[in-house]
Amino acid sequence: MTERAWWKEAVVYQIYPRSFNDSDGDGVGDIPGIVEKLDYVDELGVDAVWLSPVYESPQHDNGYDVSDYRSIHSKYGTMDDWESLLAGLHDRDIRLVMDMVANHTSSEHEWFRQSRADPDGEYGDYYVWREGDADEPPNNWKSFFGGSAWTYDEEREAWYLSLFDTTQPDLNWRNPDVRAEMHEVMNWWLDKGIDGFRLDVLNLISKPEGLPDGDPSRDLVGSEHFVDGPRIHEYLAEMHDAVFAGRDIVTVGEMPELTLDSAREYTGEDGPLDLVFPFEHVQVDFGPNGRWDVGEWTLPELKSVLDTWQRGLDDEWWTTLFFENHDQPRSVSRFGDDERYRYESATALATALLTLRGTPFVYQGQELGMTNTTFESLDDVADVDTVRNVRELIADGVYGGYGEVRGVVEARSRDNARTPMQWTDGRHAGFTDGDPWLPVNDDYEAVNAARERERTPSVLSYYRTLIGVRGDSEPLRYGSYELRYPDDEQLYVYERRLDGERVVVVLNLSGEPRTADVTPVGPSAALLLGNYESVPEAPGEPFDLRPYEARLYAESG
Ligand code: GLC
Repeated sequence: MTERAWWKEAVVYQIYPRSFNDSDGDGVGDIPGIVEKLDYVDELGVDAVWLSPVYESPQHDNGYDVSDYRSIHSKYGTMDDWESLLAGLHDRDIRLVMDMVANHTSSEHEWFRQSRADPDGEYGDYYVWREGDADEPPNNWKSFFGGSAWTYDEEREAWYLSLFDTTQPDLNWRNPDVRAEMHEVMNWWLDKGIDGFRLDVLNLISKPEGLPDGDPSRDLVGSEHFVDGPRIHEYLAEMHDAVFAGRDIVTVGEMPELTLDSAREYTGEDGPLDLVFPFEHVQVDFGPNGRWDVGEWTLPELKSVLDTWQRGLDDEWWTTLFFENHDQPRSVSRFGDDERYRYESATALATALLTLRGTPFVYQGQELGMTNTTFESLDDVADVDTVRNVRELIADGVYGGYGEVRGVVEARSRDNARTPMQWTDGRHAGFTDGDPWLPVNDDYEAVNAARERERTPSVLSYYRTLIGVRGDSEPLRYGSYELRYPDDEQLYVYERRLDGERVVVVLNLSGEPRTADVTPVGPSAALLLGNYESVPEAPGEPFDLRPYEARLYAESG
């Protein structure tokens, strides 16, 4: 029997502040802009907001490069603005989950300035430094953003480790002072009354002694050493005791290369965290050369990955559900059909997201069916990850030039998720009165919140209804899960059961109509929801499903 918790029942909405709503016309979203839209968030029916970093930052990685954990980035507003946001959310019974970046800081953080200036000073050992020849990095580890994970610092005359951008030096978690500082920062925010943390790349914080070379044949060289490193469980247990214990909060760890076994260790009754984000299901379309290569994905494969995590994290554990976030392309372009069946496929995917077992995370704009964008040249891409990785692939001759890699960039770039939120069909989609920091997606006249509100059916109204249906359904929130027809290439069908009640989710995740050979629901079932307006067939008869049709049936007994 699953123990109840508010965060198991919650639907979480992720806001990426830079791209949500700009209140002052500087082209960058801000906190007062979010406050203006709180009724919109409330009407969606979500229970919590995860806010991507709003701390002071030079923004080389849009805020995941923090230069001061205790202040608000000036373009986003002030601490008073942030207090209004917290109050505005709490007034609406919406919780606030802040993003905490514990693996690295910005190179403009005071700790790093002092660390590079004075190796023997208080902050000298706050980062991962290695002396040595300026021509030869200390080991062969690679950065997630491409190239070596090491940068030679002329000032200190030593190398520092940065698993992301060179402006994001990794903190040295072996140093107890670093751990104590980060615990203090987290407690400081929790004492302000927030409701939890999403913890950025949390399973990377432990680096092994000696920093051994990695196996050069791995996708990300060195990751066998820095993913789930040797002291990770010690650090997280300590963090749990110093920060999380005794508070009514949720903790969600972002965990690259997460396996089911390690997810079980990190969560569950004795684990330090409540939730983790697995990534396997958003890797099914990687090509033979990994992330910067696009491959074919199949529905049986996607179902099988999701099924493994659904079954693997059942009673004792709990999982997260997501198809999008600020690092992923838009799901309707990736797993649906954003041209012919945008409404149908966006709502079919929404149905899976909100009816599988776990805590669903909806990313801003997903509820509008926002789509991937286009990038005519690499100069149109702002994302440091795409720019660095793609430049390296071109330099290494993997791709002949931008023309050759463009399709991959357009399928994969994180900027797909970061184009401004589309509020209206007006200038810059109503996001800003100035010039947006990243161009609005060309489809904003057809895809925007104002239009989605007026139109029936619409992706937005379907999300609202579905979130309500989930909230009223005990089987959908806490029921067991069982997959039917695992090998079917069009159908995604599963059951959720609790105390004699059964909800059957029937999805046609393809652009072709489909007759189901075996009816998955009995004659006494009632239709709870569907994404097409009329659903003619009586339950108990074989089904005719239209392209991307989604239906939910409930049955008792
Ligand atoms: C996480 C964030 C991503 C960021 C990286 C480095 O993966 O989600 O946006 O670039 O960590 O902080």
